[in-house]
Amino acid sequence: MLDDIKYIAKEAGKIIRDGFGKNFSYEYKTNTSNIVTEIDKKSEDLIKEFIFNNYSTHSILAEESGETNNNSEYVWIIDPLDGTTNFAHGLPIFSVSIGVQLNNKTIAGVVYDVMFDNLYSAELNCGSFCNDVKMRVSNQDKIPLSLAVTGFPYNVSENPENAFELFEKLTRQSRGVRRLGSAAIDFCYVARGVFDYFWEVSLNPWDVCAGQLIVEEAGGMVTDFKGNETMKTSNTILCSNSILHQQLLNELKL
Ligand code: IPD
Ligand code: CA
Ligand code: CA
Repeated sequence: MLDDIKYIAKEAGKIIRDGFGKNFSYEYKTNTSNIVTEIDKKSEDLIKEFIFNNYSTHSILAEESGETNNNSEYVWIIDPLDGTTNFAHGLPIFSVSIGVQLNNKTIAGVVYDVMFDNLYSAELNCGSFCNDVKMRVSNQDKIPLSLAVTGFPYNVSENPENAFELFEKLTRQSRGVRRLGSAAIDFCYVARGVFDYFWEVSLNPWDVCAGQLIVEEAGGMVTDFKGNETMKTSNTILCSNSILHQQLLNELKL
């Protein structure tokens, strides 16, 4: 199954790469910051068609079209284009993210960084890889020496969960904080040891599912801001190299 997920993530990536820098139509979702382009939809349609043809009994949760509930123990969780704002403005940082859960546990995850042509993948208990190279999180144990990444939700103007205060606090404490605009890529860079940690106040299952497994299989840790399992009671996400996790949980209490 992992090979199939990798295959279709790359095929969806081709559609996105072909559309990059060209004219495209788009619509607003919740506000003028939150858009969906025709390319998001084409990517999602392709992935779903593959699942219908090859795993027809499985259920699907996809960002743009919602749930296809077949009462299956398998659920594919899909972000067909993570980093739509970057894509739409010509910034080449975006990805395709596909995770598969069996009885609510993620067993496989793939994130395809389209413009770098980097394919990140993980299977439960089998490690995580960038292309064919095994990945490992950093061993940084000091927040002041760490490089972090974060993101902001589309309703950031409402300052959910004190997003701005947390950004200021952790920016003051860390060596640097970046904002790439694709949560799935943020997770993969923690898995690679590029970033020592990543946090965000409001993510959706399709932003998290594949990336979380990729980080965990590289030795990292992913919880909500209270240290609980993700996506259960809160959409806050703290992802780290494990070593920094408890220190960061303390800092996230404002
Ligand atoms: C967004 C990106 C971004 C994050 C936002 C997400 P989208 O996903 O992952 O990095 O900060 O919270 O909604 O809309 O480009 O798929
Ligand atoms: Ca997303
Ligand atoms: Ca998306």
